[in-house]
Amino acid sequence: MLAVDRFDKGGRADLEALRARYPEQLEVLEADLGREAHKLALAWQAQARTVYHLAAIVGVRAVEDAPYRTLQVNLRSTLDVLDLARSRGAARCFFASSSENYAAVVSRGLAPVPTAEEVLIGIDDPSLPRWSYAASKIAGESALFAAARGAGFVPLVGRFHNVYGPRMGPTHVVPELLERCARRVDPFPLWGAEQTRSFLHVHDAARAVVLLSERGEAGVYNVGSAVETPIEELAQRCFDISGHRPKTLERRPAPRGSVARRVPDVSKLALLGFTPGIDLDSGLRECWRSVAR
Ligand SMILES: NC(=O)c1ccc[n+]([C@@H]2O[C@H](COP(=O)([O-])OP(=O)(O)OC[C@H]3O[C@@H](n4cnc5c(N)ncnc54)[C@H](O)[C@@H]3O)[C@@H](O)[C@H]2O)c1
Repeated sequence: MLAVDRFDKGGRADLEALRARYPEQLEVLEADLGREAHKLALAWQAQARTVYHLAAIVGVRAVEDAPYRTLQVNLRSTLDVLDLARSRGAARCFFASSSENYAAVVSRGLAPVPTAEEVLIGIDDPSLPRWSYAASKIAGESALFAAARGAGFVPLVGRFHNVYGPRMGPTHVVPELLERCARRVDPFPLWGAEQTRSFLHVHDAARAVVLLSERGEAGVYNVGSAVETPIEELAQRCFDISGHRPKTLERRPAPRGSVARRVPDVSKLALLGFTPGIDLDSGLRECWRSVAR
């Protein structure tokens, strides 16, 4: 297997540790997809039959700070990977997409919660930086299916829903909350306390991706947990696990454009035999150990 990354957020040590464990099976390539596709073309092994495209700019802050860059990186990297998948005869191609693709539709009351795969997808306001991410993921899904036509590979979209895990960097609500617990922040600010999300541990997400790539039929699959958790409850769980007890919880408004409820209907993935194995408290404890180290 060949793993490609430009190591924006670290991650090199994790891949190197895997390479040390599986020296015959894993090769690591540093390349900027979208700019350095030639490096990937050179390293692409003839026997590579399954392609997993996960590289992207992600995280509300990163996207809002650089919306055009988000589109550049996410679109160009996807097109480069798909061009190679087509020309090298890949058999299956997985694209990491996002629940953001239908968030605007849910916010407008045009889709139910829990939300299944076949709802409308779209963006609310193209002039708002945050929607550049969903725009890139919607275009990526479309490009995947278009590229598969005639090329013969099986197109598989996984729409991830709040995947979290240790060492993921402060671009997600889970590490953000735990990091503030570690710093004993008090008053403790909480944005969108009343909103809900569903959280899936990265090990479970990885299992789902493998399952999809082995057994999935062409199509879109929600990858997430069916358990809906209010953000305030998530914060309370972080307080319990970290032992931080702030005297004041400062409830602040949710970021503009942020959907009030996000819960996937995961029955399509469940039909392939998937159930999450790591409950939220166990996952948070593992993340806390990596933050509090
Ligand atoms: N974590 C979630 O909750 C979530 C939710 C929805 C969708 N997703 C999608 O899943 C995928 C993985 O997300 P994640 O949370 O692991 O994000 P992440 O930021 O931890 O990982 C993305 C990786 O892509 C790499 N990368 C970015 N641009 C690159 C480029 N041009 N060339 C090579 N490497 C590049 C980064 O270095 C990083 O290691 C992304 O496509 C993301 O959009 C994640």
